[in-house]
Amino acid sequence: MAEDDGQPARPVTFYELLGGTEQVRALVDRFYDIMDSDPRASEIRVMHPQDLSGSREKLYMFLTGWTGGPQLYIERFGHPFLRRRHLPFSIGEGERDQWMYCMIKAMNDLGIEESVMLKLAEALYGVADFMRNRQDPGSN
Ligand code: HEM
Repeated sequence: MAEDDGQPARPVTFYELLGGTEQVRALVDRFYDIMDSDPRASEIRVMHPQDLSGSREKLYMFLTGWTGGPQLYIERFGHPFLRRRHLPFSIGEGERDQWMYCMIKAMNDLGIEESVMLKLAEALYGVADFMRNRQDPGSN
């Protein structure tokens, strides 16, 4: 049995489950490598700058905080206003699904444990779905 250290119970964060900052960095790097090379993500790739290094850095900083690690993005840029920042881009179900495709493939490639992956994918899906700003015919 684990030793009781007298601390109140604390929920384990995705940041801890992933294994900290290096894993978040590796996940984001893999994510953009896939976006950059997989034709299934071509529609969202063209929305991004030619040089993805700024995107890599920003998503790494954002996800570090969002998963429960240090708030790197907020410390540097302030509140992300994520939905508002995505308004210049036309995002419907297809774009959301391409983003999730890259993320799930990246998690798979990194060998993230299945139970962690499922929960993280579900949580990220919520964010990706919230980014939608285009109503496609026949969609909700
Ligand atoms: C739903 C599909 C999505 C599309 C098509 C999309 C596309 C983009 C594009 C084109 C940019 C601007 C280029 C750049 O700075 O890299 C951007 C920025 C960003 N996206 Fe997304 N994104 C999506 C979902 C998400 C999700 C789910 C998250 C977070 C979990 C996210 C986090 C960010 C961040 C942190 C930035 C940088 C914001 C800034 O300029 O400071 N995006 N996204």
